[in-house]
Amino acid sequence: MRPLIIAANWKMHTTPADAGDLARTIAARTREPSVVRVICPPYVSLAAVRDAVVGEGVEVGAQNVHHERVGAYTGEVSAPMLVGLATWVIVGHSERRRDAGETDELIGRKLGRALEAGLRPILCVGEQLAEREAGRASEVGARQLEGALAGHDPQVLAEGGLVVAYEPVWAIGTGRNARGVDAAEMAEAIRAVLTGLGWPAETAATLPILYGGSVTSANIAEFLAEPSIDGALVGGASLKPDEMAGIVGRAAVTARARLEVAR
Ligand code: 13P
Repeated sequence: MRPLIIAANWKMHTTPADAGDLARTIAARTREPSVVRVICPPYVSLAAVRDAVVGEGVEVGAQNVHHERVGAYTGEVSAPMLVGLATWVIVGHSERRRDAGETDELIGRKLGRALEAGLRPILCVGEQLAEREAGRASEVGARQLEGALAGHDPQVLAEGGLVVAYEPVWAIGTGRNARGVDAAEMAEAIRAVLTGLGWPAETAATLPILYGGSVTSANIAEFLAEPSIDGALVGGASLKPDEMAGIVGRAAVTARARLEVAR
């Protein structure tokens, strides 16, 4: 059975002075052992969040990582630097594809650095609105996935705990979420791409797939009702303890229900 994962992407919010308090509050309001909780604050707040959630079972992630291990890259942060601060890392977020010009090839290299350092990667894929309207959503997702995963051994990716987040660009920060059925269709398409890339079907079946894009406590149930969706990557709502309590609480209900079905 795949785990239920709720990951908070705080983006460029919080300072080291306030991140610890927010993380502590969220941790205390979301104590659900059946749900994997991950908080991804800005780099500079990683240490504060790590220290604030000690003993809470909340895991810490970075929002990005450089594609080289070391070198003359002013202002950048490498995977080895994150060890001890984070155990997860987001790669290929659409905001970085858009603002930093990240390509699938570059994202694939980031994936490699993350895995080498023992960081669990959350690889983001998702189409633009025009691409969805043109009926090309799954084709775009497949291209992003194939580009990033090229040259990576499926076994290494699976053992490294790869998670894929389907985040349609038009749903991010817009208040306009995808429909649960569309997210589920994309999740199926993603697993089909993996088998097409030579992943054994049983390995592809273990890969957790999250939905991201305007997730709130009011719409999370629609996504978790889909058996192929294993949780959410939450942006704006993840800065609000009430919202996180609702989202993680719902995920715990789903985790219990799925356990019953599996029995
Ligand atoms: P919002 O939840 O704010 O739409 O952001 C989603 C996202 O980009 C998470 O990585």
